[in-house]
Amino acid sequence: MRLVQLGVGAVGEVTARVSAAEPAVEKVILADIDERRLREVAAKLPPGKAETRVVDAADRTALVAAAREGDLVLNALATAWDIPVMEACLEARRHYLDMGTGGPREITGTADLDEQFALHDAFLERDLTAMVSFGIDPGVSDVFARALYDQFDTLEKLLVLDGDNGAVDGYDLACSFSVETMIEECLLPPTVFRDGCEDRNEPLSEFMEFEFPEPVGRLTLCNVDHEESQLMPMFLAGKGLRDATFFIALDPGFVEALRVFKALELNQRAPVEFGGATFSPIRFVASRFPRPVDLGGRIHGAVCVGTLAEGTIGGERVRRYLYQVTSHDQAWEQWGVQGTAWQTGAAAACAVTQFARGEVALRGVVAPEQLDPAAFIAEMERVGLSHGSVDLPVD
Ligand SMILES: NC(=O)c1ccc[n+]([C@@H]2O[C@H](COP(=O)([O-])OP(=O)(O)OC[C@H]3O[C@@H](n4cnc5c(N)ncnc54)[C@H](O)[C@@H]3O)[C@@H](O)[C@H]2O)c1
Repeated sequence: MRLVQLGVGAVGEVTARVSAAEPAVEKVILADIDERRLREVAAKLPPGKAETRVVDAADRTALVAAAREGDLVLNALATAWDIPVMEACLEARRHYLDMGTGGPREITGTADLDEQFALHDAFLERDLTAMVSFGIDPGVSDVFARALYDQFDTLEKLLVLDGDNGAVDGYDLACSFSVETMIEECLLPPTVFRDGCEDRNEPLSEFMEFEFPEPVGRLTLCNVDHEESQLMPMFLAGKGLRDATFFIALDPGFVEALRVFKALELNQRAPVEFGGATFSPIRFVASRFPRPVDLGGRIHGAVCVGTLAEGTIGGERVRRYLYQVTSHDQAWEQWGVQGTAWQTGAAAACAVTQFARGEVALRGVVAPEQLDPAAFIAEMERVGLSHGSVDLPVD
């Protein structure tokens, strides 16, 4: 299988390197607007496996031409590009895979999951697969949710809990992945599934504490908008699900900055005019942050992503947390990248390799909840994304 990969940022480097190690992936065609970065990443792939193309995703003709060069297109651009890339895949008749979505359109001006699933029939009619939200979270968190769903007799609550105790050298503000995606999702009114109904919370309004497995430890988490709050109820409601929510640990300094961005509408994507120039405020703000790719070796600590389920097994109440821990320091030592990039990219590469080996038979728009969780978790273990499971006291 030939893989076309759009975007070779922090995560894209890892998806490319891990996918290229799979024998069923014969060629990886890397495409990005940044030529220097393309050369840098291509040099890290096994000899003869990489080709590079300078492509601006805003150029529809170039996007379709790039898609035609492969069998599967892995979208590792910011989520705002999801629908343009999916449409290019439909035109080029190629399979598609991404690591998350944006939206809702009425707030951000970019597509959300509903718009992606609206393309289900178009992919199905062309006998194509579009795998959406296949990173670590969303992605592995949803695979864990499905694994837990299979273990429980009744399942009332699913919480995705993402905790990072990493400290970044040299920067007061930093994001370990796509900065504009992070700012956008933190300031949206989060989708929550509560008492069996979808609703929206106020941004930065709900916090909780959680004791993550070592070495991460106790952290304060904030409810933010995330794909899992929609995907889990969509696919895993059959055993009495009443509550499905996403929480992430945010550095207090970052929360403060987010409140300022919001107050000054600097999280707005739509272009504004200033001093004779037109620019997108969120893209400008993101450009003032260090690039996620430059944080390798500067973040110290570990990140834990997992899904907490509450329900019953054999009549007993059970609270079970299924999780993956990655050390930023180890990711730097072994791969020369930071932990979040490694964790996300390696997870997406598991989906690529399963697809390349013909192990994903589903067509249309496919969510992580729809795959066999045991096979996916086995693939994770194979590439070094180990997982753990712990039963917590029921309270
Ligand atoms: N599901 C998850 O767990 C998870 C976690 C982290 C990141 N992500 C997603 O993965 C994606 C990639 O994240 P990242 O941290 O690698 O981002 P990044 O900002 O490091 O990289 C983005 C890349 O896109 C390129 N690019 C920007 N504009 C372009 C254009 N017009 N045409 C072509 N290339 C362009 C940039 O040069 C850069 O190399 C994002 O969508 C992010 O939301 C998902």
